[in-house]
Amino acid sequence: MPAVVLVGAQWGDEGKGKATDLLGDQVDYVVRYQGGNNAGHTVVIGDQKYALHLLPTGVLSPEVIPVIANGVVIDPGVLLEEIDGLKARGISCERLLISASAHLIMPHHKALDKVTERYLGKAKIGTTGRGIGPAYGDKIARMGVRVQDLLDPGILRKKIEVALNEKNQVLTKVYNRRVIDPDKVLEEYLGYAERLKPYIADTSLVLSRALDQGRVVLLEGGQGNLLDIDHGTYPFVTSSSPTAGGACAGAGIPPTRLTRVIAILKAYTTRVGSGPFPTELLDERGDWLRTTGHEYGTTTGRDRRCGWFDAVIARYATRINGVTDFFLTKLDVLSGLERIPVCVAYEIDGVRHDEVPMTQTDFHHAKPIYEEFPGWQEDISEAKSFDDLPPNARAYVRTLEEMSGAPISAIGVGPGRTQTLQLRPLV
Ligand code: IMP
Repeated sequence: MPAVVLVGAQWGDEGKGKATDLLGDQVDYVVRYQGGNNAGHTVVIGDQKYALHLLPTGVLSPEVIPVIANGVVIDPGVLLEEIDGLKARGISCERLLISASAHLIMPHHKALDKVTERYLGKAKIGTTGRGIGPAYGDKIARMGVRVQDLLDPGILRKKIEVALNEKNQVLTKVYNRRVIDPDKVLEEYLGYAERLKPYIADTSLVLSRALDQGRVVLLEGGQGNLLDIDHGTYPFVTSSSPTAGGACAGAGIPPTRLTRVIAILKAYTTRVGSGPFPTELLDERGDWLRTTGHEYGTTTGRDRRCGWFDAVIARYATRINGVTDFFLTKLDVLSGLERIPVCVAYEIDGVRHDEVPMTQTDFHHAKPIYEEFPGWQEDISEAKSFDDLPPNARAYVRTLEEMSGAPISAIGVGPGRTQTLQLRPLV
C-alpha cells in the first residue's frame, strides 16, 4: 500500500511536473492535496508542452486516476477550461475525481485577492491573484462554499447569499468596489454544477480502499516547503500546507499510511513573489540563470527571482517533511560554469547559522556563506545514467546530497520525459 508524497523543497517551481509524470507509469492514483490554480506544472511529452494549474499531472497518463482532494481550493471555471483544453488535444479527463469536501473559489475571493494586494502597497505578498488566500480564509472562518454544495441548489443559494452579505459590505465600504450580484453567481455556479457532477466523489474513501487493495497513490503537493503557511517565510507564503504533513489532512489519508516522501530540489534556487531569499542574485548571474533555466512563471508569466543552491533550506526541507529521497532537477542548466557557489550556512549579525533562523527578521538579514565547487563544460542533456555525467557534475550532486541530508534518487538533465537519470526506484 505505497502512498508516496511529492513536495517542493524550496519555494515551488522545482519541476514537480516532470517527477510526477515520470512516476505516472508506476502509480495508480495522482492526488492534489492543497493549493489551487496558483500552481503551475509544465510537462513536456514529445513535442507537446502541457501547462497544468489545477489538474493533477496524472491526467496525462491514461492508466492513472487523477484526484483533486479535499484540501484543494477549486475555481470551477478554470477547472472546466483546463478539462476542455486537454480534451481538444485528445486527452480525456473522464477518470477525474473531485472531493465533495474541497472548497470553491468564488468571484468575491478573486476580487478580494486583487484589492487587498493593492492596499498592501509595498508590503504586498505578490500573490498569483487567483483568490487562493481569501478562499482558504473563508474555509477557516467556516463560511466557505464546498463542492458538495453544488449538488444542493437551495444550500448553494443560501451560502452564496450569506457570504456576499458580508463580502459586499467589505468590497463596497472598505475597498470602494462594486457589489457582486448573488443571483448571477448562483446562475454561474449552477452551470458549473451540471458539468462537474459526474466527477464528484468521496475521495478519502476511494483512496483508503485503493491503498487497502495495494494500489500506488502519489500525493502531489503544489508550491513548496518555504511557501507553507506554517513552516514557510510567513507572511510571504501561500495559504495552505504543501508540506508532507499537509498531504494527510489534505487528502484524508492517515500519516501511518505514508511510505515515502520525495522532495523536488532544483540544482539552484528560485522564488516568485515577495519575501526573503538569501542567495538571490540581483546581477547578471541571476539574469543568466533566469534565461538559461527559462525561469518565468507558468501561472503568471512573472520573472522568477534566481540564486545559487541553498543547502540550509534543503536541510530544512528534509527536517520538516521527513524527506526519504530527493529528485534533483535542472542540473543541465548549470553546465558551462567555471565554479559553482553553494550556500552552506548564513551569517546573521556576525554569527554563523547552520539552520533556518527562528525569526523572519533574522531570515531577512541572513547573508549566505558560500563554498565554491568546480563546474563542468560538457552538455549533459543526453546523459542516460549517473556514470555518464562528467566527474565534476557527479561531485556536485554528491555534495548537495551530503549537505541536504537525504539521498538523491533521480536527476533531471533536461525538460523532456526521457531526460531523467534514475539512481534508485522511487516507489
Ligand atoms: P498565492 O498562493 O496566490 O496566495 O500567493 C502567495 C505566494 O505564493 C506568492 O509569493 C506566490 O508567488 C507564491 N506562489 C503560489 N503558487 C506558487 C507556485 O506554484 N510556485 C511558486 N510560487 C507560488
